[in-house]
Amino acid sequence: MRIVNQLIHLEDVPATVIAETYGTPTYVYEENRIRENFRRTLAAFRRYYPDFHLFYAIKCLNNLAVANILRQEGAGIDAASVNEILLAKALGLGGEEVMFSGNFLSDDDIRQGLESGVIFNLDDPSLLPRVLRHGRPQVIAFRVNPGYGRSEVGPFVTNAGPDAKFGVHPDQVLDAYRAARDAGIRRFGAHMMPGSCIRDPEYFGFITGLIMDIIGKASRELQIEFDFIDLGGGLGIPYKPEDKDKPLDIEEAAARVAAAFRQKVAEYGMKPPRLMMEPARYFVGDAGYLVGRVHCIKDSYKRIVGTDIGMNTLARPAMYGAYHHIYVDGREDGPRRAVGLCGQICENTDFWVKDRPLPAGIQVGDLVVVENAGAYGYVMSYAYNGRLRPAEVLVNGDRHWLIRERETFRDLIRGVHVPPHLRPRPARLRKLAR
Ligand code: LLP
Repeated sequence: MRIVNQLIHLEDVPATVIAETYGTPTYVYEENRIRENFRRTLAAFRRYYPDFHLFYAIKCLNNLAVANILRQEGAGIDAASVNEILLAKALGLGGEEVMFSGNFLSDDDIRQGLESGVIFNLDDPSLLPRVLRHGRPQVIAFRVNPGYGRSEVGPFVTNAGPDAKFGVHPDQVLDAYRAARDAGIRRFGAHMMPGSCIRDPEYFGFITGLIMDIIGKASRELQIEFDFIDLGGGLGIPYKPEDKDKPLDIEEAAARVAAAFRQKVAEYGMKPPRLMMEPARYFVGDAGYLVGRVHCIKDSYKRIVGTDIGMNTLARPAMYGAYHHIYVDGREDGPRRAVGLCGQICENTDFWVKDRPLPAGIQVGDLVVVENAGAYGYVMSYAYNGRLRPAEVLVNGDRHWLIRERETFRDLIRGVHVPPHLRPRPARLRKLAR
């Protein structure tokens, strides 16, 4: 994003062009930013560990246009469900380019996951016999919960430690791999995902040491080698303006990960595994914006600016108390005044900015642009109150493409069936019946 003469541009496309062409609210993604984010990550980690590979956790933004950008750059896919495996297939990816890291899987999930031929990453040892009932995968990974997790978003997205629902307890890891080995599986991987949105490079070195101590012991004890170790996602981005000058030092993170990794590989006498990560937010978070419009301004107990961006369009503030910075098109240089800002949903959690200095001249009809909306934005939107899901647009330079249509009323009633005895009768018949 850049602001030229107070006018907001996504790459070179003015926000007004987006709003006039596609309506509001609309998610907009900057193609070049996504590419830069991916390349920066790959280059940093490969510098310190050449056998390093990146998967994209497609859960955070699952539009195939965006996922194809990352595929072109060389990413595999981390899939959280069978449908995400199908998205990967739609990208032309399969086999060991895709990892299935579901949790609490149904038998159907297991069967379809196996049939798809992707890497199976098991969240619990109890899944192994269930998988084996359907077939024997070439390679098995377990998701380890190393007992420690962390997140700048807060406890809601801390995905490991005693309070998390994810992963295998360290005390169960040895038996889990033993069972897999004894079942004839010969290729192994290991995975963890302790938290999301962390900008502290030290953290990444630390968690690498944690998993490698657990996996190194299993390797030594069971006499098995590991094809790959996957450190999950978690690379963080700054959301607040005061943190803008404190982005994650990706070079430092990569250096620390590689140093811890090499040291543990040597300590446990392992054959050096492939090193993997599967970030999501870091690739697309700061490449995405949400463009909305101000429809009403009310002066009641306080001044409240009503826009078409609500908790249904961007769930993170209402769900996690997450901060997203907001710009007002054409007014950023003006004086500021503290106001509230909300969407159009009949819930007070939709009043998602209670008190923030926004441009004082904000008026009905103005465009607001919400920053860092690429990750966990559109995918977590929903159609509550009949407020339908927004459109998605990709920009590259001064070009722009609709990559997902705005929902219409048909989407609201798609797949809904009203039994005959509940159907309204035409008005004429109703009159005759009286
Ligand atoms: N791998 C696995 C197995 C995951 O569960 C996740 C995210 C990722 C990778 C990607 O993590 P990232 O690089 O984005 O940190 N909805 C929350 C975030 C939930 C994270 C879920 N798992 C938010 O809006 O902040």
